[in-house]
Amino acid sequence: MAKIIVEKSEPLKGLIKIDGAKNAVLPILAATLLATDTCVLEDIPHLKDVEVMSDLLVSLGAKVSPLVDGRIEIDASGEISGEAPYDLIQKMRASFFVLGPLLAKKGVARISMPGGCAIGARPIDLHLKGFSALGAEIDLGHGYVEAKAEKLVGATIYLDFPSVGATENIMMAATMAEGTTIIENAAEEPEIIDLANFLNKLGANIKGAGTDTIRIVGVDTLGSTVHAVIPDRIEAGTYMIAAAMTKGDITIKNVVPNHLKPIIAKLRECGVDIEEGDDELRVNGEKLNGSVDVTTLPYPGFPTDLQAQFMSLLTVTQGTGIVSETVFENRFMHVSELNRMGANIKIEGHSAVVQGGGQLQGAKVKATDLRAGAALILAGLVADGETEIDNVYHIDRGYVDIENKLRKVGAKIRRIEE
Ligand code: UD1
Repeated sequence: MAKIIVEKSEPLKGLIKIDGAKNAVLPILAATLLATDTCVLEDIPHLKDVEVMSDLLVSLGAKVSPLVDGRIEIDASGEISGEAPYDLIQKMRASFFVLGPLLAKKGVARISMPGGCAIGARPIDLHLKGFSALGAEIDLGHGYVEAKAEKLVGATIYLDFPSVGATENIMMAATMAEGTTIIENAAEEPEIIDLANFLNKLGANIKGAGTDTIRIVGVDTLGSTVHAVIPDRIEAGTYMIAAAMTKGDITIKNVVPNHLKPIIAKLRECGVDIEEGDDELRVNGEKLNGSVDVTTLPYPGFPTDLQAQFMSLLTVTQGTGIVSETVFENRFMHVSELNRMGANIKIEGHSAVVQGGGQLQGAKVKATDLRAGAALILAGLVADGETEIDNVYHIDRGYVDIENKLRKVGAKIRRIEE
């Protein structure tokens, strides 16, 4: 089992280049099942989750090329199976994204209920509500979801919560439905716009992605395309926090500053200096000072995927910061690990009260999920002594080469295999 060892580091300085967005790539890979010819995807990050999704596509019958220089080719024009195997679906919740495309393409899909990060119950009711509204018959049993429809028919679907996954899955299912589908209270994340752009390049007719109302007019068939995915705003946000926490000065390349507004705003409130370029940000943490409160919200609110990393920052800033988590019900597993490193964080319902300004100490800790793991690396950069992080496979699901990217800007970090 691999471990990551982090030692207290000098202020980080230099340049970090951001990879393609994990959360854009995964639904787009699933959407290639809808294409009638080979699709070429570019700027694809070399991540465990991408491997799992590629394996899933192969197991369904698609031809997937090796990922070379960020480029991958997928040909799903042959015979595609409607049944996804349990072991692959269990590895990653996002594998459930294949249900919408399979339903649209084959009219039937049987998929094991999803697994993934342990951050709350994460039901799939909104996905299923959408498929039912489009005319699919849904059967649940023995840990499987079976969806069937002779033909999908457009409908108006109101999401009780703007779920990212449900918006994407319903959007994919509706691309070839008869008539018009309207998704109301849709999620507005940039990754949804990227998926809609990809589908429209295939020939779909989707308008309104990025707003709370998405309109999809069904088309008869979808072709193929070449598409480069957007940069990963969560990876970028993580390195921005690294620059701030270590009072360093990092230029972060390949970003869309607009996608990072909440993290830019919150870091500035903490005294961090941020210069915005067209596709880069320079983050200088020399004047990092007071704590702030943050509340996670659907986009364009503060992303839940940066909550754990921001909490690490608040252990260093002066004063008290309150972190409220409103997107997931159980996303504070990093708190006990940070407290083991000497942080002073108390959980009160859906909030964590972080008393900052203390000195963290290196300890043996465990990554409980992907972003929690990133938060521990950040904490290790400023903690006295050595931090040993276990269960780093979580981190590899979402960060390309994290230890090398950080080492290049001066972090004392290494991976050991045991
Ligand atoms: C996606 C992201 C994940 C991010 C999350 C919220 C991907 C691959 N993953 O996950 O990194 O943390 O958005 O920004 O893009 N919910 C329901 N019923 C459903 C679906 C969701 O109640 O059918 C609830 C969830 O339990 C959760 C909330 O809605 O409390 C948000 O979930 P959702 O937006 O669906 O997250 P994911 O798509 O799973």
